[in-house]
Amino acid sequence: MRNLNEENVTDAVLGKLENCADPRLKDVVASLVRHLHGFIREVEPTEEEWLAGIRFLTEVGQKCDDKRQEYILLSDTLGASILMDAINHRISEGATESSVLGPFYREGAPVMESGASTAGDTQGEVVTFRGRVHAPDGRPIEGAMLDVWQTAPNGLYEVQDPDQPDFNLRGKFSTDADGTYEIRTVKPVSYSIPDDGPVGKLLKAVGRHTFRPAHVHFIVSAEGYEPVVTQLFTEGDEYLESDAVFGVKNSLVVPYQRRNGGHLVEYDFGLRPIA
Ligand code: BEZ
Ligand code: FE
Repeated sequence: MRNLNEENVTDAVLGKLENCADPRLKDVVASLVRHLHGFIREVEPTEEEWLAGIRFLTEVGQKCDDKRQEYILLSDTLGASILMDAINHRISEGATESSVLGPFYREGAPVMESGASTAGDTQGEVVTFRGRVHAPDGRPIEGAMLDVWQTAPNGLYEVQDPDQPDFNLRGKFSTDADGTYEIRTVKPVSYSIPDDGPVGKLLKAVGRHTFRPAHVHFIVSAEGYEPVVTQLFTEGDEYLESDAVFGVKNSLVVPYQRRNGGHLVEYDFGLRPIA
């Protein structure tokens, strides 16, 4: 293994994997090497550019802590998260489409009574989400869990905002015997994903904005069914066509109907039985 050059270096590195005992790991690393070398051959970066790339990835790592996950943001804004999602959760008749999880999900949201509000003292336009959770054949699913989270009207998740109470605008709701659920909250707004780090800088440098259309996040789960990680987007939002993280699907865009001085959103979630 000497005299390596443009022509033979890739095969030399791939040959180093011959003792790898884990076939999946071997395939993954081999593919990574082939694509990385292919990227370098295509781009032919200057040494300054290569260093800038390494500096960028270093900054992405340094920006991460227990409340900020810049690598997820990078994956989301490069479309990698929605591609992963599409491959791992293929469209299935009668089941709700999925979308990106994003970096702001927290486990341990408070369990709430049907019809309760996740908004506490948060001021905003009141909205009720109501509907059913059902199997692909339409049968209701009793005891399904809806884990929901969203930003406040200031565009910030509670973890980003010291002025919001812990777990504000987060809650878990379960369905009753006929599969119905009801959640009260305040109307979500479109908001900017965090733009004060290296990912924000990159998006700006390539001429992209950092906004997401207004949405509420849901993880809907039930025993014996595949859970779905998804979001419901507000019909008419100005960012539906240009979501910074590519998460919008037609089936997830919902109208806000005017009701009693507030809004009503009706939506039924379909879950697919575990195969
Ligand atoms: C979110 O919707 O919470 C989100 C998704 C991707 C990146 C940033 C935020
Ligand atoms: Fe969000």
